Amino acid sequence: MTSVDMRTPEALAEAERWTAHNYHPLPVVVAEAEGAWVTDIDGRRYLDFLAGYSALNFGHRHPGLIAAAHAQLDRVTLTSRAFVHDQFADFCHGLARLCDKDLVLPMNTGAEAVETAIKVARKWGYQVKGVPAGQAEIIVAAGNFHGRTTTIVSFSTDPEARNDFGPYTPGFVTVPYGDLAALADAFTPNTVAVLMEPIQGEAGVLVPPEGYFGGVRELCDANHALFVADEIQSGLGRTGRTFAIEHEGVVPDMYVLGKALGGGIVPVSAVAADRDVLGVLKPGEHGSTFGGNPLACAVGAEVVRLLATGEFQKRSEELGDRLHAGLNALIGQGVVGVRGRGLWAGVDIDPALMTGREACERLAARGVLAKDTHGSTIRLAPPLVVTADELDHALAQLAAIVA
Ligand SMILES: Cc1ncc(COP(=O)(O)O)c(C=O)c1O
Repeated sequence: MTSVDMRTPEALAEAERWTAHNYHPLPVVVAEAEGAWVTDIDGRRYLDFLAGYSALNFGHRHPGLIAAAHAQLDRVTLTSRAFVHDQFADFCHGLARLCDKDLVLPMNTGAEAVETAIKVARKWGYQVKGVPAGQAEIIVAAGNFHGRTTTIVSFSTDPEARNDFGPYTPGFVTVPYGDLAALADAFTPNTVAVLMEPIQGEAGVLVPPEGYFGGVRELCDANHALFVADEIQSGLGRTGRTFAIEHEGVVPDMYVLGKALGGGIVPVSAVAADRDVLGVLKPGEHGSTFGGNPLACAVGAEVVRLLATGEFQKRSEELGDRLHAGLNALIGQGVVGVRGRGLWAGVDIDPALMTGREACERLAARGVLAKDTHGSTIRLAPPLVVTADELDHALAQLAAIVA
């Protein structure tokens, strides 16, 4: 019997039996999905209010993205970057235009794109800024989440993510998120970059104080350092803009992108920057066998075309207002705090009532999938194709579990 033929309890036990326990999933075994909905192996339907941590911004199996993937599967799927393929320039050109940057460097996972940004910033520091060899420093924010590689967890402030994975990569300086005075104090002549999330997702959808990133931009300029925006979770329509940093009226030197760039079909990530920054890389200094492969580029180019219409950003902004109005109405009724922008919210459940995990279990039992983070906070990030009725339905289920 394969897990396709099993019912939920056996399928869960089978998965538990054969895998490392590096996740603690909700007890739902998904078999199919479309738009904002998934169906489990017992035929139960759920509204997906996690959307693959924003990797599914366009919903499950968006028809245009699936068509692009199918067409490419029938032509060529992998070449490696040893050769050029006919999907490469189209994707990179489109993404560069979307970011209003000169150049793009495609990779696969978000963590790889963050690693790329770190390497580029360091190299830029040595070759352009003139930082002494081996002395480059990158300023990061407490509470950050940028991925799981050994270098990235070296500057995590989350003990779960970091402890027992040393020795740690040096060269990172941590400041409190949202505190401009602390950031100003942290710069040294060896600072090459400030790397931050415009909204901290894993930390609980934390929006910094107004004007913070304007100040970050000014401090980077004054100190001849790059501002690198990790838009892997916040970008590509999630907050009602193409990039969350647009809300701050700020343009970073480098965008770090991932998740939704692959349309929920393939892992696609990238960094985008101008020639004076990304141009520091020469052949042989960085790369990836799968980065920028034909299938990834065909899907990624279609993602860029979807975003270029502005339709998804508009939906996220308008429906986001509805989501936040609905959530704010629950404050004092079992909810103690709500943050976020567009179709993205961190919701603090009254800890006296239940943990975030319990809240997610109760929501799942009522047909809504969400994910907890840090104690009693849950994150809501429905696909941007969600309808007003579906939003209202999910809000009603949340109201019911905290009542
Ligand atoms: C802001 C941010 N950066 C980086 C990553 C890492 O992406 P990946 O899991 O694709 O490596 C994530 C994943 O959640 C993220 O939210």
